[in-house]
Amino acid sequence: MDSWGYWDTLAALEWQVELGADEAMLDDPLDRFDLPTPVAMPKPEGRKAPAGAPTPAAPARQAAPKVDAVAIARQMAEAAGTLEALKTAMAGFEHCQLRRGARNLVFGEGAPSARVMVVGEAPTRDEDTQGKPFVGAEGALFDKMFAAIGLDRAKEGAEGVYVANILPWRPPQNRELAPEELAMMAPFMQRHIALIAPDVLVVMGNDACAGLLGRRGVSRMRGNWGEVAGTPALPMYRPGFLLRNPAAKREAWADLLAIKARLA
Ligand code: URA
Repeated sequence: MDSWGYWDTLAALEWQVELGADEAMLDDPLDRFDLPTPVAMPKPEGRKAPAGAPTPAAPARQAAPKVDAVAIARQMAEAAGTLEALKTAMAGFEHCQLRRGARNLVFGEGAPSARVMVVGEAPTRDEDTQGKPFVGAEGALFDKMFAAIGLDRAKEGAEGVYVANILPWRPPQNRELAPEELAMMAPFMQRHIALIAPDVLVVMGNDACAGLLGRRGVSRMRGNWGEVAGTPALPMYRPGFLLRNPAAKREAWADLLAIKARLA
């Protein structure tokens, strides 16, 4: 096994503290490989089987039935006729392990009448804590970017922008989403898009591109319109990337102008 470095170990510890771990179980680490071999306990005396009786067969182990999480998600998503029902269905979907480490289900924000729907990747710590997509410094830049083309998630209709994430639960240490996670949550996002019925979709970040457009590589994909279920879809950098790479803001500005032109 690779030995963990200082930063990996610190990140793992921070993650546990975030999940609520607030004390160590023991003062010193316990090497469980070095414990004395347990002494075999004598079997309790039971009624002896008569000599020559057949040994009872051990009960057969039942293999756990394999669940088709994607099919279950599809069924639950298709039955949801409103955004509220979709949120309830997602909250009741138990097959995505990410929900276990998350504080909140981050569903979406904005007016359902908005013409533009942004699909981001997944909540980070701030979103997980507040239960809303794109908050904190990344959210502030998100709002500034869309304000520059006259859109606001607090407004309705032509002035509004609706935002949700491809995954509603925070992945540990904001890791990349796994293909199985994207596949099982895709039916919910497809339904989400159908219920909002936007004129334009903005697909923000690699995980969102993988989930909706089937591939990663936002730096190559951005600026090129694709289509998701008949709706024009534009891949874009997420604001967090732009905060770390200000030189890419020029390209993001060009993408925002392309969205504005599409809406005209
Ligand atoms: N916050 C979100 O809600 N989504 C992202 O993709 C990034 C940050």
